[in-house]
Amino acid sequence: MDALDALLNRVSAPRLIAPAPDAAQRELLFRAALRAPDHGQLRPWRFLTVEGEGLIQLGELFASALPADADPEALNKARAMPLRAPLLVLVIARVQASAKVPAQEQVLAAGCAAHSILLAAHAQGVGAVWRTGDMAYSAHVAAGLGLDADEQLIAFLYLGTPARELRAVPQMQVSDFVRAWPASDSAE
Ligand SMILES: Cc1cc2nc3c(=O)[nH]c(=O)nc-3n(C[C@H](O)[C@H](O)[C@H](O)COP(=O)(O)O)c2cc1C
Repeated sequence: MDALDALLNRVSAPRLIAPAPDAAQRELLFRAALRAPDHGQLRPWRFLTVEGEGLIQLGELFASALPADADPEALNKARAMPLRAPLLVLVIARVQASAKVPAQEQVLAAGCAAHSILLAAHAQGVGAVWRTGDMAYSAHVAAGLGLDADEQLIAFLYLGTPARELRAVPQMQVSDFVRAWPASDSAE
């Protein structure tokens, strides 16, 4: 698959089953991530892979992040969340002190890395979806994952084999989103 094909046709795969991407596929996912644009070459990212027993442990961490009075349904839902794919990649933005590169740019660079993983997955026929939700912003979850104070969890990337046919790419009109600046007078 060429680059434009991946860029134009990537869609999320919300239903994922085994097998997870193999070692060779993973290598390409992460090499793609490491080529994200990166002001100052700060490499403001790191990644955690979670699979197998780790998915169950992550579900327990999610459940333990809920309030003490959470009902059993909510606890079960939290436990089941990571089981929606055979492999999770957690993308962590590491914001470093820099006079030149604001924090926002570093988080954006990590976001680009996450997107590159999605694209590299799609190009290899691996299903993927980027999720966040309350657990991505929970201090309890961050501590359980061992994040430092300068780190933010920006993505749970769920990866695996699509369980069903991918949906069609939504059609959008470029002209709805793009304008020349300054506007030309000819429209008046
Ligand atoms: C930062 C970020 C967080 C997201 N969090 C969620 C999420 O928690 N749950 C969800 O269903 N989709 C989430 N999405 C959106 C999906 O990943 C996906 O892009 C969306 O469903 C549209 O599908 P598509 O990628 O096939 O166009 C998130 C996307 C981004 C960029």
